[in-house]
Amino acid sequence: MIQKFSMKFFIDTANLAQIKEANELGILDGVTTNPSLMAKEGIKGEAAIINHYKAICELVDGDISAEVIATDFAGIVEEGKKLAAIHKNIVVKVPMIKDGIKAIKYFSDAGIRTNCTLVFSAGQAILAAKAGASYVSPFIGRIDDSGWDGVQLIEQIVHIFSIQGFKTEVLAASIRFPNHIIRCAEAGAHVCTCPLDSILGLLKHPLTDIGLAKFLEDAKKTQ
Ligand code: G3P
Repeated sequence: MIQKFSMKFFIDTANLAQIKEANELGILDGVTTNPSLMAKEGIKGEAAIINHYKAICELVDGDISAEVIATDFAGIVEEGKKLAAIHKNIVVKVPMIKDGIKAIKYFSDAGIRTNCTLVFSAGQAILAAKAGASYVSPFIGRIDDSGWDGVQLIEQIVHIFSIQGFKTEVLAASIRFPNHIIRCAEAGAHVCTCPLDSILGLLKHPLTDIGLAKFLEDAKKTQ
C-alpha cells in the first residue's frame, strides 16, 4: 500500500547550537531529547530543565519530546503534566514499562500527547499504540548493536499499525548514520530522529564535490 505522507525529520539532541543549525536548513520538523542528552549539555535541576525546553520550543516550531524521569504512575503523571504545561508543542516521553503504559492511556484521555520510548519489539509498540501513544520510538541503532536488524523492526511495526489502523506514528530513534535514515524512509517510518551528523551526512557525495569543482572551473571561462 502506498502511504500518503512524507517522513518527518526530528533532531535527536538537547544541544541548542545543533538544533539551530538543523532548523536553519529548513528541513526540521521537531526535536527529541532524553535524560542522557540533557545531562550531556550540563542541564541540572527542574528549573534549568524547564528553561531548556522553553529555549528549544522557541527555536523550533514542531513537536518537542521531553522525557519523564519518574517510573511510577503517579510520578509520571505529575511530571508529564508539568512538562506538557511548558508549551503546546511538548510531547511527553514515557518509558515502555507497565506504569508507563497506564500513564500513556491517562495522558491520551487527557489530550496530552506522548512518545513511548525504549521500544525494542513489535509487542511493545502494539501496547503503546493501544494505550493511545502519539509516537512509539524503536531504538534501531541499539538493536543493530545487539546483532539484530533495527530497520526490520521499523518495517514490522509500520505494517502492523497500517493494517490495524493505529494512528500512532513510528518514530525511528537511535539513528547512527545516514544510511539508517534512508532505510527508515524505505521502511515507511513516519518520523526519523537523527543526530546532526547523520542529517548532514545525507548531503555528501564525492561526485557532487568533483562535479561542482569542474562547474566552477568552467564557469570562469564564461565570465
Ligand atoms: O532518542 C533515543 C536515542 O537518542 C537513543 O540513541 O544513540 O543513545 O542509542 P542512542
